[in-house]
Formats: sequence, structure tokens, C-alpha cells
Amino acid sequence: MARLCAINTTLILFSVLFPPISMATAIKQSPKAVEDWFDNLKQSQPKVTKLHFYYHNSRNPEMNLSAVQVASAPVFSDQPPYFGVLTITDDPLTVGPEISSKRVGYAQGFYATSSLEEVSMLMGATFIFTDGEYKGSTLAILGRNAIGDRYREMPIVGGTGLFRLARGIVTLQTYFFNFTMALAIVEMNVVALHY
Ligand SMILES: *[C@@H]1O[C@H](CO)[C@@H](O)[C@H](O)[C@H]1NC(C)=O
Ligand SMILES: *[C@@H]1O[C@H](CO)[C@@H](O)[C@H](O)[C@H]1NC(C)=O
Repeated sequence: MARLCAINTTLILFSVLFPPISMATAIKQSPKAVEDWFDNLKQSQPKVTKLHFYYHNSRNPEMNLSAVQVASAPVFSDQPPYFGVLTITDDPLTVGPEISSKRVGYAQGFYATSSLEEVSMLMGATFIFTDGEYKGSTLAILGRNAIGDRYREMPIVGGTGLFRLARGIVTLQTYFFNFTMALAIVEMNVVALHY
């Protein structure tokens, strides 16, 4: 029940945060426009944008594969904590936890298992938004993802389009994980400070 309510709130939140494309703000991207944007910064107030979506990471060829392992260390990488494995992703971001729910973007990037003690990764990705107000804008994230922790904070290190000069935090929370299925669904809450 609580989960259903949460999903409904998400849908409502999303229709606000991602209004129809017709309402999209076209952001000028020429070098001159970017320069003007920076010149006008002193008149701009920082704002806080909050987003909520689900990230689908599938290494399963039978289930909408979106992540591939491209390298692994000759030692250690085949047993927990799988130190030294590099994976490249183009993972869908959706409004709800179901893969069939409305798509709002992609997380294109990588993760590299980088702890000798626990399953923990250095993760880097560009969130590319493909829907609504933020269509065409991106957020860049880079940080540590210790998947055994309930909450993982990922720093937002920058952004483009409406997210120029973004800073902030993405909080990751595992919604579903099955090692055999090679599938993980992660709930993501974004709080971004930008202009
Ligand atoms: C693959 O993704 C589509 C939505 O893009 C979904 O309808 C379908 O059920 C998915 N297939 C599997 C096997 O998860
Ligand atoms: C993971 O998925 C496999 C294959 O569908 C299933 O047999 C297994 O029970 C699942 N494991 C857990 C912990 O849910």
C-alpha cells in the first residue's frame, strides 16, 4: 500500500517535473549563447530541482540488456567482492519501477568494482533526460556505490542545458536485485542546485 502510494506520488510529481514537450524551454547552445548565459549569472538565483526515477541495470541478454562487462582483472575479479571488473552502461531511467513505465532518460557511463573488502564500485554516468522540461539537459555524476549500503550518495559534479553548473546529490536505494538474473533496479532521488 505504502509502495503504491509512493508510485502514484511519483507519477504526479513527474507530470509536474516533466511537463509535455510542447512546454519545453528551448535552451540556446551556441558558444555565444553560453557566454551570454555566464555573463548574466550574477543576476541569476540558484534554484533547487528534485527528481525521482528508477534506474534499470540489466546484464541479461534476454531482458533488455543495457550493461556489458568490457574488462576484468586476471586475478580476484571472479570471486566476491569481484575487484577489478569494468562495465559500460546505457541504462534506462523510468518514472516507475517497471521497465515498461514511462522513460525519462538514460544513464550512460561505467562502473568499476574498486574495493578489496566489499562489493563497491566507482560509478560515473551522464543522466541524459529525454522527456519534458529537461529534455536534452544532462547531469554528470561520479562517486562510490557500495551496493550493500541501504543509501548511497552520489555527487552531482556538473550538468548541461538547464543544469549548467549543477551540484548536488543523487541518493541511490536498491529496489530490486537478483544476481542470477543479472538485473538491478535502483530508486534514485536527485537534489540538484543549479541556475
Ligand atoms: C523490455 O522493455 C520493454 C519496454 O521498453 C518492456 O515492455 C519489456 O517487457 C521488456 N522485456 C523484458 C524481458 O524485460
Ligand atoms: C533470482 O532469480 C532466479 C532466476 O529467476 C531465481 O531462481 C532465484 O530464486 C532468484 N533469487 C532471489 C534471491 O530472489
